Amino acid sequence: YPPERVRNFSIIAHVDHGKSTLADRLLELTGTIQKGHGQPQYLDKLQVERERGITVKAQTATMFYRHITASQDSDAPKYLLNLIDTPGHVDFSYEVSRSLAACQGALLVVDAAQGVQAQTIANFYLAFESNLSIIPVINKIDQPTADPDNVKDQLKRLFDIDPSEALLTSAKTGKGLEQVLPAVIERIPSPPGKCDSPVRMLLLDSYYDEYKGVICHVAVVDGALRKGDKIASAATGRSYEVLDVGIMHPELTPTGVLYTGQVGYVISGMRSTKEARIGDTLHQAKITVEPLPGFKPAKHMVFSGLYPADGSDFEALSHAIEKLTCNDASVSVTKETSNALGMGFRCGFLGLLHMDVFHQRLEQEYGAQVISTIPTVPYIFEYGDGSKVQVENPAALASNPGKRVTACWEPTVIATIIIPSEYVGPVIMLCSERRGEQLEYTFIDAQRALLKYQLPLKEIIVDFYNELKGITSGYATFDYEDSEYQQSDLVKMDILLNGQPVDAMSTIVHNQKAQRVGKELVEKLKKFIERQMFEITIQAAIGSKVIARET
Ligand code: GTP
Repeated sequence: YPPERVRNFSIIAHVDHGKSTLADRLLELTGTIQKGHGQPQYLDKLQVERERGITVKAQTATMFYRHITASQDSDAPKYLLNLIDTPGHVDFSYEVSRSLAACQGALLVVDAAQGVQAQTIANFYLAFESNLSIIPVINKIDQPTADPDNVKDQLKRLFDIDPSEALLTSAKTGKGLEQVLPAVIERIPSPPGKCDSPVRMLLLDSYYDEYKGVICHVAVVDGALRKGDKIASAATGRSYEVLDVGIMHPELTPTGVLYTGQVGYVISGMRSTKEARIGDTLHQAKITVEPLPGFKPAKHMVFSGLYPADGSDFEALSHAIEKLTCNDASVSVTKETSNALGMGFRCGFLGLLHMDVFHQRLEQEYGAQVISTIPTVPYIFEYGDGSKVQVENPAALASNPGKRVTACWEPTVIATIIIPSEYVGPVIMLCSERRGEQLEYTFIDAQRALLKYQLPLKEIIVDFYNELKGITSGYATFDYEDSEYQQSDLVKMDILLNGQPVDAMSTIVHNQKAQRVGKELVEKLKKFIERQMFEITIQAAIGSKVIARET
């Protein structure tokens, strides 16, 4: 397949708008998987993905499709199509941008009844900024409340997409699906790249397989990659021999070669995924090449301590975390010790859902029992001597300062919220209670409003989404992007049991909220701590000042 007959595309959508179902249908339509193969959503492979109905890790599949146009007969040319699945949730936008780097186009799937939602907007801009050709797909047109014309208006108003470009489909009944792959071939450009240059490819993903070793997913940008070739990593300088190379069809299928523009897998005797850095350039050995632009590195925005539920299980937890991070390089891990919980790890995540998913995978895939501490964000503190530190663990912030804190900053986000207009009042109240500042308030159609707020990240990582869903009867959708650090009046709050601070329970709070947060925490603890024959005092304190107390 020369590049002219290759197309690399992604499907992007708000959660639940039908991306995985559409992907399944396309795989069936091309005979890549059997119809009714018993397991819906082929590309959602992790147990946590099936349970939560969300896509966490992007997967790729290659399909072959004969493109018959009016002027051609049955020997119409066959095309090689690489479908790169992407996660829909905001926490995984790191995975999304990674997948988009290997694509020239994207199907933007929008639910015909729900219309454009917060993550539709975020994903559209990720694709737009990567210069992809975007094909709008209005899905679920079989639903009684479907209103495709309204969705077309929204697409026009928000993204300046011509209504005539939209495809109308139902991934459930199959209606309209026959237009999708012809549109992919006609509207998405073939991959650029020089066929006769030495091989150069982008490392998209890697994982460890017990039998085969490290398997790398790559997009070949220039040249061709053959079994037996010697390749080198631009990041580490190490070289390897290509032991096996092929496509995901949808399982690993050896082909012996990958040509310019193709996406596939390579096995090259790497011993650990640490050698396979995502975003690295792999190239023909013994020559120097210009490295490809890598990916935006993962930014860790939520931190939490993870401890074994039974202190003696530290080794088991350590082993489980090591294995899991082999497949999720976006988690940062450092060892830490707590007086209360013993030895454990401080882990950094992309967001709250990412943290939950990691936690759940530890328990499900590795049988680890885990205690996690209150999530926190990376604060910056400045001391009297002018030095600045980033604080990822509140307990590490000395409460008895030989060093006086002179200023502190906290990370903020720009949040996009889409809601039916009758909920605007309560949502504005929620955002201002969470110290938000309104940036925008517009209507995307007659019934729906779009609000933009700058909010401290800390205020949205605990409970914000649940509360937002609660006050809007589940209708609100929400997405956020990182914004700047803002100066803030922050204090460290300790929890004391019988006068002794419990390091694992220390948190950093906004000064004005300290009293309320402290009161809530000690009341909650009173309920959780079993009754004893003697008195136990439970206190919340800032420095030496007690701000709440229960007995
Ligand atoms: P994430 O992977 O979490 O981002 O979700 P997704 O966008 O992949 O959505 P998914 O394919 O899992 O579909 C969500 C739900 O919508 C499922 O219950 C599907 O069965 C249903 N669904 C998908 N397409 C259609 C459709 O065309 N019509 C109807 N009525 N339901 C659909």
